[in-house]
Amino acid sequence: MSMTVVSKLFDETEVARRVEALAGEISKAVSGDFVIVGLLKGSFVFVADLIRALDRQGCKPGVEFLRVSSYGSGKESSGRVRLTGEMLDDIAGRELLLVDDIVDTGRSLVFARNLLLERGASKVLTCTLLDKPSRRQVECQADFVGFTIEDVFIVGYGIDYAEGYRHLPYIGVVD
Ligand code: IMP
Ligand code: MG
Repeated sequence: MSMTVVSKLFDETEVARRVEALAGEISKAVSGDFVIVGLLKGSFVFVADLIRALDRQGCKPGVEFLRVSSYGSGKESSGRVRLTGEMLDDIAGRELLLVDDIVDTGRSLVFARNLLLERGASKVLTCTLLDKPSRRQVECQADFVGFTIEDVFIVGYGIDYAEGYRHLPYIGVVD
């Protein structure tokens, strides 16, 4: 029988502090009118905190979500990314901030960014809560990074392992 052990990597206070600082960086880089595009499901908690931190910086972003998928139910990416939900309309000419939970191989963020540019977005800035540069398969550097981490498997704060653990209020590592 196997048991999953989760240890804390960043606690709630560390995450909150970093999100607040990221909002400060983002507020200086965006123009007045921009829309956050979160990638589901993993980014939903991060986006929820980020928009309120951005509000404290005087920003009034719109909020949209896209659903893309590269993972099956396991810990390894399938290597193929596809849109599994609806495409957004009305993004032509808009400035967007694309937000994901983790940049791993880089395929999801690159795929989503290209998709939004193809649909006419005027500018797509990118933000990830976590970055695993050692795992990269395609060239991808997010404009805003919360934490740079080693090659470990993360859960919590919206991020799942086989659809579990999203509810954890901290960022954990599966041992
Ligand atoms: P990429 O396309 O390989 O960069 O993968 C990005 C997506 O894979 C992220 O949006 C996550 O949903 C998922 N992912 C990557 N690493 C982890 C992890 O450590 N835990 C849970 N999901 C992960
Ligand atoms: Mg994801």
